[in-house]
Amino acid sequence: MTFKRTLVTTALPYANGPVHIGHLAGVYIPADIYVRYLRLKKRPVLFVGGSDEHGVPVTIRARKEGITVQQVVDRYHYLIKDSFERFGISFDVYSRTTSKTHYRLASEFFRKLYDEGKFIQQTTEQFYDEQSHEFLTDRNIRGECPHCHSEGAYGDQCEKCGRTLSPDELINPYNAVNGNPLTKRPTTHWYLPLDQYQSWLEDWILNQHKEWRPNVYGQCKSWLDGGLRPRAVTRDLNWGIPVPVEGAEGKVLYVWFDAPIGYISNTKELCDAQPEKFGKWETWWKDSSTRLIHFIGKDNIVFHCIVFPSMLKAEGSYILPDNVPSNEFLNLEGDKISTSRNWAVWLNEYLDDFPGKQDVLRYVLTANAPETKDNDFTWADFQARNNNELVAIYGNFINRAMVLTHKYFGGKVPLRGELTDYDRTTIEEFINLKQTLEELLENFRFRDAQKAAMNLARIGNKYLADTEPWKLAKTDMSRTATILNVALQIAANLSIAFEPFLPFSSAKLRGMLNLAEDADWGQLGSIDILQANSELQQPELLFLKIDDDAIQIQLDRLQRIKKENEIQSWQPAKVKEPTNIDEFAKADIRVGTVLECEKVKKSDKLLCFKIDDGMGGRTILSGIAQSYPEPEKLVGQQVLFIANFPVRKMMGMESQGMILSAVDADGKLVLASVSRQVKNGAQVG
Ligand code: 2FM
Ligand code: ZN
Repeated sequence: MTFKRTLVTTALPYANGPVHIGHLAGVYIPADIYVRYLRLKKRPVLFVGGSDEHGVPVTIRARKEGITVQQVVDRYHYLIKDSFERFGISFDVYSRTTSKTHYRLASEFFRKLYDEGKFIQQTTEQFYDEQSHEFLTDRNIRGECPHCHSEGAYGDQCEKCGRTLSPDELINPYNAVNGNPLTKRPTTHWYLPLDQYQSWLEDWILNQHKEWRPNVYGQCKSWLDGGLRPRAVTRDLNWGIPVPVEGAEGKVLYVWFDAPIGYISNTKELCDAQPEKFGKWETWWKDSSTRLIHFIGKDNIVFHCIVFPSMLKAEGSYILPDNVPSNEFLNLEGDKISTSRNWAVWLNEYLDDFPGKQDVLRYVLTANAPETKDNDFTWADFQARNNNELVAIYGNFINRAMVLTHKYFGGKVPLRGELTDYDRTTIEEFINLKQTLEELLENFRFRDAQKAAMNLARIGNKYLADTEPWKLAKTDMSRTATILNVALQIAANLSIAFEPFLPFSSAKLRGMLNLAEDADWGQLGSIDILQANSELQQPELLFLKIDDDAIQIQLDRLQRIKKENEIQSWQPAKVKEPTNIDEFAKADIRVGTVLECEKVKKSDKLLCFKIDDGMGGRTILSGIAQSYPEPEKLVGQQVLFIANFPVRKMMGMESQGMILSAVDADGKLVLASVSRQVKNGAQVG
């Protein structure tokens, strides 16, 4: 099949928070590279994005922030849209699933399937909150995990032990929002009978799409091997697109039914607004010579490879995806990225913290893209890749070529003389770059493609280091001219090769070289891109070093968040084995007043307490120095201590008892005391 045009979609991010590096590495950067490449190849392409504004995540955010759901989606839709623009994700359209066009299209889609009898109706018992009169979705139900018995597991997953759950498995389920207990009530929903599409999907994916990435193909196979079951496409919720059927009051389309239709709605919105530029929306969605590519993260595979294609098949007039390049996950400093735990590098914050450094993040996230396995983003790696690769190799090469040309040839491209064997070998090394990049990019191997582009910068750097034109300039101007001409041609090649990956730097470089704004992909591999004698602009550094301070600020921020999360997720320790009064009474707990308190020399942990115990006084050493940096302030305070604790020797001193303290959520120790002054030596029991 030869395709005439390509429609590229990117997963619609939930408008419940800003986008983060995980989204960028997994979906938006690879899609943008691919689209920029197709544009360079002058192949017709449409790049569609938008916000997913329905579903439970946005409603949870609204409750958390105490604002309306509409306010949440407005806030984050514009924030996300603006960050994508600033970051250079070159969407043709970025709209939202609360648009009028989408409401109409999604409702019509549902109605057509409904009218044609493509759904089945089923009544099941679902959890219901009698006090707030609502059915609850899995994520809004919490309870005790049946596996690890931690409190507060969600109806779909226990975040403590990581197991997938269904709300029915939870012990003592309750409403996550208000803590109300739950009952069960029957409710009726429409289901897409995926089982009826099983054999068609098996043939379409397992036989006809063996070329899909192994992670995508493998996940589809395991879903299919497990046997597909009908999936509900409606929900009892008060936020979403109302089910367009009589008697369905209080029910909305399931977010995963309407969201992928958003790709179609957003295309329609764009084409209807600018038909002369983008043509008819149907051409993009209903003409079999259009190639549809969905860029997504791995948690979206089943929806894009099984559910949405079954919906499209059921509808009957749409094309199906040709490929679904899905990435694995990106972690942050060794931990899973999480919006709710604020464990992420947010795009909008990055853009504010690192102005003008869009390409650095684009570069690092592509170099480290989780194409075949989960990967880790670390700030140390970010800094190293910037300083050791972008600055030291690419930037350094460009700067040398530009500065030397200005120094020896007045900023004009020097005339190339006879090439030496060494020049020819160097040129040989990148003569096939166009073909290499095309093969890799066509196969969605963005990491390797960027490596190949970077390799050209290495070739350029090595060429200058080996030929040393700054030395030759003293004796042989014509050889110097040839070398700098070749170097500048390599620079021009770099501006084309890097355009899909680092568009901001390419634009800057093309500006310096006085090349047209639009790169000509066909020139890749050529050494005749720049005309001899053409003027260059003044050199500017393409990349700047990132210093330790800028990185430390980011690491400190993550450290703070880690602490906050630990405090928030703190749970009391399990109750110890049963004891009895006799056992308990053996411990002689007493009240005493601190007479003196100071740090024990050469110890970070120990404080030395002199206590008035009502019995002549005693010395007790306690390991709480880190929690009490000003121990002298404890003087006069009453504390609890175990009076019959065996005498112990520590740091050459005797400790005659043990002082009691509680451990707070942040790990700090807090001295236990009595609620009003009592006689020293009084017993506690
Ligand atoms: O996982 C998510 O973030 C979803 N909002 C993706 C939706 S993709 C598409 F179907 F719209
Ligand atoms: Zn658990």
